[in-house]
Amino acid sequence: MLSQRLANIWISLRRASFSGGDIFGALTDGKACVYLRDLLVEHIRTTHPDVELIVGLDSRGFLFNMLLATELGVGCAPVRKKGKLAGDVVSVEYKLEYGSDTFELQRTAIKPGQKVIIVDDLLATGGSLSAASELVRKLGGVLLESLVVIELVDLDGRKRLDCDVHSLIQY
Ligand code: PRP
Ligand code: MG
Repeated sequence: MLSQRLANIWISLRRASFSGGDIFGALTDGKACVYLRDLLVEHIRTTHPDVELIVGLDSRGFLFNMLLATELGVGCAPVRKKGKLAGDVVSVEYKLEYGSDTFELQRTAIKPGQKVIIVDDLLATGGSLSAASELVRKLGGVLLESLVVIELVDLDGRKRLDCDVHSLIQY
């Protein structure tokens, strides 16, 4: 059943002229949306049923963090780009292909010891997930896993990450 659903997602992504990790091309297909949600939820329920908070990355990670949180009955929080969050924040600068950017997380978002999964649409170089992991740990969160829909395997981004990584689709 699971492999059939994965195959369906894969076909949808291909049909949507998926290239270079464009998640939006797949989301115009209603079935792909449902399969994506079900696969992500099923994965978390199977591997990390003790998760307490789903952190999503600005901006495409927001497609998934509250969706998963509501399905799992846990909270969610956003990692945002610099200057977007209210109140006291922790910050981490990270490298892009050209230049750098800064991710932030509200200090009150995570309680020390809280079990966290980070979710995003795509793992490319790993810079974004690496910075987000640092933020979670700065606040004392226990990072169970980073979870992405698409992993661009040629870029070997998971090598930069010091946490478990799960991707639904390797491209
Ligand atoms: C894209 C994508 C991932 C990130 C992956 O986000 O949504 O978050 O790049 O790249 P990396 O592994 O090399 O860090 P982007 O920063 O383009 O912003 P967006 O989500 O707002 O589109
Ligand atoms: Mg992004």
